[in-house]
Amino acid sequence: MCGIVGAVSHRDVVADLVEGLRRLEYRGYDSAGVAILNDGNIQNRRAVGKVAKLADLIKEQPLTGTTGVAHTRWATHGVPAERNAHPHRSGEDVVVVHNGIIENHAELRDSLKADGYTFQSETDTEVIAHLLARHLKSGLSLEASVKAAREELVGAYGMAAISPHEPDVMVVARAGSPLVIGIADDEHLIASDVFALLPITQRFIFLEEGDVAVLSRKTIAIFDSENNAVVRDEKFSEVSAENTEKGHYEHYMLKEIYEQPAVIAETLEGRIYKGRLLEESFGHTATELFDKTKNIHIIACGTSYHAGLVAKYWLEEIGIPCHVEVASEYRYRQVVVPEGTLFISVSQSGETADTLAALRAGKGAKYLGCLTVCNVPESSLVRESDVAVMTRAGKEIGVASTKAFTTQLVALRLITIALARRQGMNQDQEKALVEELHALPRQVEVVLELADEIKAMAASFADKQNALFLGRGTFYPIAMEGALKLKEISYIHAEAYAAGELKHGPLALVDEIMPVVCALPDDPLLEKVLSNLQEVRARGGELFLFSDKKVKIPLDKYQDLKLDDICPSTAPIVYSIPLQLLSYFVALEKGTDVDQPRNLAKSVTVE
Ligand code: G6P
Repeated sequence: MCGIVGAVSHRDVVADLVEGLRRLEYRGYDSAGVAILNDGNIQNRRAVGKVAKLADLIKEQPLTGTTGVAHTRWATHGVPAERNAHPHRSGEDVVVVHNGIIENHAELRDSLKADGYTFQSETDTEVIAHLLARHLKSGLSLEASVKAAREELVGAYGMAAISPHEPDVMVVARAGSPLVIGIADDEHLIASDVFALLPITQRFIFLEEGDVAVLSRKTIAIFDSENNAVVRDEKFSEVSAENTEKGHYEHYMLKEIYEQPAVIAETLEGRIYKGRLLEESFGHTATELFDKTKNIHIIACGTSYHAGLVAKYWLEEIGIPCHVEVASEYRYRQVVVPEGTLFISVSQSGETADTLAALRAGKGAKYLGCLTVCNVPESSLVRESDVAVMTRAGKEIGVASTKAFTTQLVALRLITIALARRQGMNQDQEKALVEELHALPRQVEVVLELADEIKAMAASFADKQNALFLGRGTFYPIAMEGALKLKEISYIHAEAYAAGELKHGPLALVDEIMPVVCALPDDPLLEKVLSNLQEVRARGGELFLFSDKKVKIPLDKYQDLKLDDICPSTAPIVYSIPLQLLSYFVALEKGTDVDQPRNLAKSVTVE
């Protein structure tokens, strides 16, 4: 999941390419590079590390040009090193950037080596450059070369190629990885994500699977996988560049945590009114699917998977059997699909390779239909699903997901209410649940006001190597999400357990230096959880609790943060907030890179 940007223009585009990379850094940040056509030559600059390193290099060794491509990398084939950084070139013939994986790169490499091509890197991308050069040398145009290469390349990719032989042209291809064309005055741009281009334009064309596009300053020609000339609609993005800046916050993650009251309200907007769910807002197809739904399969990865696990408790509570699975497992096994099963994918980006592959597998199975809970309207998951219930979290940039998670839970709650209607829920019950959702933004606001207390708690974690998160019921997946947040951004080894499982193994880990984190809402499982916490205290474990004000805690020693007036059905959403803040402040204490933690990326478009 690398990020690519490119431009064909009348003006110098280097600064915009570098800015585009900076905005795509969430996709990978091992190394970065830019290549420009200049007077019949290819000039490039590449640097290991973040885009800022590349920007420094360009300051020292300036570069100018009107046609160029650029890339920020998340290493798959070959270590992060300058030789493996994109763009990759084949002599003075062609230079390419690529996002994705070429599965048959080894055999292509052998055939190219046999033809005398020498390789400078260990990447799969370099085979594309030499493959294109071989076609160019045989007399094909850049367009025909990319089309020919499309037939030879196996794998998922988005790519852009430029050549000094045709200096005013860029050819791009999309096969499994997102690619968008930006339209501006007397210039065309491309990128893996509209976000890269928002400072320049809000006019976009989204390429479809298998498309090749040939761009000049003034023209765009698009060809589908059968090589038919096609027209793809231009779309106007409502997101503006200003909305996606950090503002006065130190990190995107913190900004995104604080945006939660607003984006939760946004996700509810037009979907609830006067104590009722406005089911029509999901569209006609959704209503028809819900009428027939007897079972649900939820497929997702990472944080989105945790949202699915919470929904399982909600759905089974209303009598709908629900199976939740990580996409990377689901896609490669034989799945039994009972009659009347609805497939639900959950994804912030809508581009996660495993989730997308699972959806495609699901479409071949006997599901009623495919619904996605997703945050990006133009994403592949949205386009390929029968119904999309959009979370309206806005762009999430911090790699550790926060507002996307809580809005996914809100969307899944709305779906649960729609299905509960079919399970015999009466109007009063519906009103009560909808009112709880309505109260949610304010409750989240109140929890955010406790940030200083959570910060004080976090200070105790700075020297920890391990942490345990416990929970029962919906608070078990919330504990999983809390542990994931902590490990992602603070690099502390954190595990979550169903509190009842403690004595079946993890209790052996508990001693005086083991922090144990637990949410204690005022719910029917409270006494059970308290017994588990007694077991922790008996071994000297250090307790960090987030509890309801009404809860009396009969333990000898603990640190506690009190939450007030939290509604039962939305409590998992509210209790996620202090766990997010805890991880954030621990990471601050430790001085790690909060928004771009090591080895991770925001949008995982490779397997
Ligand atoms: C990556 C991100 C996570 C995210 C997961 C699934 O691992 O770092 O934050 O939860 O992908 O992504 P999705 O976009 O499908 O929700």
